[in-house]
Amino acid sequence: MSDLQSEIKKRRTFAIISHPDAGKTTLTEKFLLYGGAINTAGSVKGKATSKHAVSDWMEIEKERGISVTSSVLQFNYDGYCINILDTPGHQDFSEDTYRTLMAADSAVMVIDASKGVEAQTIKLFKVCVMRNIPIFTFINKMDREARDTFDLLDEIEQVLGIKTCPINWPIGCGKEFKGVYDRNSKMVSSFQAVATGGSKAAKETDLSIDDPALKEEVGELLYDKLLEEIELLDGASDPFDIDLVSKGKLSPVFFGSALTNFGVEQFLNHFLQMTSSPLPRISDKGEIDPMGDHFSAFVFKIQANMNKDHRDRIAFMRICSGKFEAGMEVTHVQSEKKMRLSQPQQMMAKDRKIVEEAYAGDVIGVFDPGIFSIGDTVCVPSNKFRYEGIPTFAPEHFARLIQLDSMKRKQFVKGVTQIAQEGAIQIFQEYTAGMAEIIVGVVGVLQFDVLKYRLENEYGCDIRLEPLSYSHIRWIKDRTIDPNTLKGVMDVKKVKDMKGNPLLLFNNEWNIRMVLEKNEGLELMEFSKE
Ligand code: G4P
Repeated sequence: MSDLQSEIKKRRTFAIISHPDAGKTTLTEKFLLYGGAINTAGSVKGKATSKHAVSDWMEIEKERGISVTSSVLQFNYDGYCINILDTPGHQDFSEDTYRTLMAADSAVMVIDASKGVEAQTIKLFKVCVMRNIPIFTFINKMDREARDTFDLLDEIEQVLGIKTCPINWPIGCGKEFKGVYDRNSKMVSSFQAVATGGSKAAKETDLSIDDPALKEEVGELLYDKLLEEIELLDGASDPFDIDLVSKGKLSPVFFGSALTNFGVEQFLNHFLQMTSSPLPRISDKGEIDPMGDHFSAFVFKIQANMNKDHRDRIAFMRICSGKFEAGMEVTHVQSEKKMRLSQPQQMMAKDRKIVEEAYAGDVIGVFDPGIFSIGDTVCVPSNKFRYEGIPTFAPEHFARLIQLDSMKRKQFVKGVTQIAQEGAIQIFQEYTAGMAEIIVGVVGVLQFDVLKYRLENEYGCDIRLEPLSYSHIRWIKDRTIDPNTLKGVMDVKKVKDMKGNPLLLFNNEWNIRMVLEKNEGLELMEFSKE
């Protein structure tokens, strides 16, 4: 195997998705501890001190103590080079969260064992399903009271529509949590609570299911329950099938407690074996082999003002094939411009560092002179193609954007356009020509504050946002249809996006169904194609 191939083969690039508070940060932190990337727990995010994994680039972030932007963490573990694409875990997450999933090869879904599948998990999960990427489930907080294990699995299957295959099985929960049974090795790792918090690991001993000591260890009641559940499980659950896992049709499920470090390393080991190295991506010239010699990447995120002294932008790109070398000449396919990618950066836990080389699977941030848009392709001049675009995700909150000082129209238009280009907000216009009303759509309401803050601070424009009641957006598949000719659209707002695509804003699902019923053959889409 060439050096290039072995570098790419050892890469694993994944996102961790969860509802806020399920334990994503804690789990990430434990992974980093294993990889030696950090030395103490609490260095990724200490809530009390509002420290963040990487970015505290905006006042809003600091004020609210949350991370607006997603970060990428790279570390080595057991011969693997791991890239974790972190997604903001706050309710006010943005389109960036969705886009980050486009850059991942697989996803880890963290679920709080006492809560089960929560709203945000569903949204993020839908994006993973759309891409057919493998999804691994870590059911966390088993050291607390948990819901019935079969119920939890049932809920994942029903709500998320994916089959599950437990790799291990919990014995008790909360104060009675005794450990997990590994279905393959038939061994039980028993859990003994230690003082929680910090980087202390729970004490673990391994016992075979046939070992008489086990009964004593876990107690007769839980032991009998375990045997019963294993029997039930072996008879009723879906068998493990790596092919179905790789197609995103079957989710391997693990149980543990991230806080006490229990089950985390087993999870990581299994997960790394079950996931694949970077996968081929689709382009207008067919599938691109990640092991190919030619470097290529696509932009999945643009972030402005990371450095307050310079109003600069960083474009984050996922390398999809070959090797990147600092200073190499590349073509930005969309503008057909040749350029050198300057100051490529990579994140290592808390720090940013300049990278000299990077490989397929890695993410680098490069200085953006204002030419990149989300979804753009960068490749070597001798081998040009375009990767499939990144879909536009449906915003759920809308507001009318009103400029307060009409003298500053130019800055205002520039600001709104640039911010929209970065993908933090989406802007729409009234469908009827001549109406200059601008409507802003966002995935998370925090983006409204971000927009107002940035227009005031960076572009000197005072604005007012008037919230609108719409919550559902649908693109009209046939873009030649004039929305004004549709039936039953009295309460529906007709707008067009920046690319001129017609779309409709609805107040609720019921309205959508009514419009579909009244207009035979009308096709509406939740994501725009490009
Ligand atoms: P998030 O990134 O998904 O939002 O969750 P995070 O890891 O920040 O965890 C949310 C809370 O749940 C934290 O407590 C964390 O310590 C706790 N937690 C995470 N994993 C486990 C677990 O396995 N067992 C138990 N019992 N708790 C867990 P907090 O009090 O909100 O914050 P902190 O003061 O501990 O930082």
